[in-house]
Amino acid sequence: MDNVASQYRYIGARPMAAALGAEIVGVDLSRDISDPVFDEIHRAHLEFGVIVFRDQDLSPLRQKIFSARFGKLMSHAIARFRHPDHPEVMVMTNIKDGAVNIGASRAGFEWHSDQSYKPVPALGTLLYGIECPPVGANTEFASMYAAYDALPEARKESLEGKLGVHDYAWAWETYYKDRAPLTDSEKAALPPVRHPLARIHPETGRKALYLSEGMTRSVDGMDEQSGRAMVLELNDFATQEQFVYSHAWRPGDLVFWDNRCLLHRATPSDPKYRRVMQRTMVEDGTISAEAQAEHRSRNHRVA
Ligand code: OGA
Ligand code: MN
Repeated sequence: MDNVASQYRYIGARPMAAALGAEIVGVDLSRDISDPVFDEIHRAHLEFGVIVFRDQDLSPLRQKIFSARFGKLMSHAIARFRHPDHPEVMVMTNIKDGAVNIGASRAGFEWHSDQSYKPVPALGTLLYGIECPPVGANTEFASMYAAYDALPEARKESLEGKLGVHDYAWAWETYYKDRAPLTDSEKAALPPVRHPLARIHPETGRKALYLSEGMTRSVDGMDEQSGRAMVLELNDFATQEQFVYSHAWRPGDLVFWDNRCLLHRATPSDPKYRRVMQRTMVEDGTISAEAQAEHRSRNHRVA
């Protein structure tokens, strides 16, 4: 598909980087969206991977209503991160009330794909900026289509049939040493899962890498060290500058990304600036029931 804005009749789409990302204009997400407009937004999401809507005014409820057009909403796997009145909404912030953060603290500084550690991950994530630092705190996105396409043919072939081991408890212990440890029941609810290192996007039919520094502990059937080395090598290849769009946030931005074909990560900002973000996720209903059952039976065998 080529990035021709005139393919859209009801919305404007302005590409923002070579590999992925577009700003969508002419849509007010706080109102009900008609089917033809929705169809174009859906198409733009598939075409660009990351779509950005500026100057939006979204209550938690309005964000849920828009998000739910794309599928079933997904609450965060960890109950303590959920909004008290809207379990499908998560507030991410650096603001504290006394010693306690008023939402989930910022996370995701390593490249990752949301909820890849679950048998049914998140199709997409919608992140809305309520308060954003004037500098820093960009979110970066890397196209796993572009990265896959750029791999040498022999390397592509070597990935066939290989499964990455995505492990939340491992990631928590490795990257979130400052947080209270996961409880035994939180851990038990999130055993490691395996997903193909390269997979076909169910809606576009394009092949994309699916692994990350942040969540993929190893590769199934390899020893931990060489599996991890392979994950890191592919992660580093995939996140080179030419595959990346870096989003500089403004309050009122709603950014909707496709977790099936890109990685993303948070970047730092000065703690003197407040940051408040409202997040929803849509479940990847395109993973078949058979694939889910397969995941469950395989995962019993992962150490
Ligand atoms: C997320 C995430 C990055 C950021 O919401 O899933 O990774 O910059 N956010 O807050
Ligand atoms: Mn994330």
